[in-house]
Amino acid sequence: MKVWDLPTRLFHWSLAILFIFMIISGESDDLMEWHFYTGYLLTGLITFRLIWGFLGTRYARFSAFTLNPIASIRYTNKLLRGQHKPLYGHTPAGSMMVVVLLSLLAVQLSTGMLSTDDIIWNGPFYNSISESSAELAGEIHESIQLLLQFLVGLHILAIILYKVKFKESLLPAMLHGKKPKHGNTEHSKGDKAGLDEERESTSLTKLIMSTIPAVGLTYWLFTLPI
Ligand code: HEM
Ligand code: HEM
Repeated sequence: MKVWDLPTRLFHWSLAILFIFMIISGESDDLMEWHFYTGYLLTGLITFRLIWGFLGTRYARFSAFTLNPIASIRYTNKLLRGQHKPLYGHTPAGSMMVVVLLSLLAVQLSTGMLSTDDIIWNGPFYNSISESSAELAGEIHESIQLLLQFLVGLHILAIILYKVKFKESLLPAMLHGKKPKHGNTEHSKGDKAGLDEERESTSLTKLIMSTIPAVGLTYWLFTLPI
């Protein structure tokens, strides 16, 4: 059963690669220029995903996410007690995690653009704010990356937990897009939302509509002096 569309899968693996590079390059003076440029690409990537959350196919849309902290806690409690039913889209806890990760990544990107490495490179908007605000942005940038690393660790741990404890492999679905259709697999949001269907095929028009603003923003960032 087709679940994750190709743009969502490409988004995910590009995000994973760029994120790792951002962590490595952030710690290296020599790679700081590349930290900036890769950050611009990542800004485009996140912008794409945010628009794709509205224009994308069934399971990629935010409307298919269960964005309710109480439902998420209840779901996690059940999971920790060993009660588990496979779902097609993101689980309640998974939905919350995706939104938290995307939001923190947006904060990380914005604060990076206001920061300086105190050696050569100033973020493109560093000169638009006061020195004390830039310092604060730098501190937030330093703290949020740690939080992000922790949450990504938790994200990967959850994938391993599903595999080891519940024998559900989530990773292959992020590679080839399909989840097995077994009798006890449920859609994530109840019958009313009609989410127990295979995802629709990707619309080229919607894909272009999501890509153009993302590419435009990235291009503009590259034109800014740093
Ligand atoms: C998800 C995106 C990003 C991640 C994960 C990330 C991660 C990091 C990390 C790990 C550091 C080292 C922090 C430390 O001093 O301990 C760092 C520093 C820095 N980053 Fe980023 N960064 C991101 C985006 C950006 C962007 C888009 C820019 C600018 C356009 C930027 C500009 C900087 C600057 C100027 C520093 C040096 C700060 C300092 O030396 O105190 N970052 N970043
Ligand atoms: C090698 C390490 C990684 C593996 C094996 C992995 C695996 C997965 C899997 C299997 C899913 C689908 C979960 C589901 O079925 O609900 C997923 C979703 C997601 N992962 Fe990862 N992931 C990795 C690294 C990362 C990193 C580094 C980030 C972010 C910095 C990340 C962010 C996300 C996001 C945002 C989603 C939601 C995808 C969407 O709906 O757009 N992942 N990941």
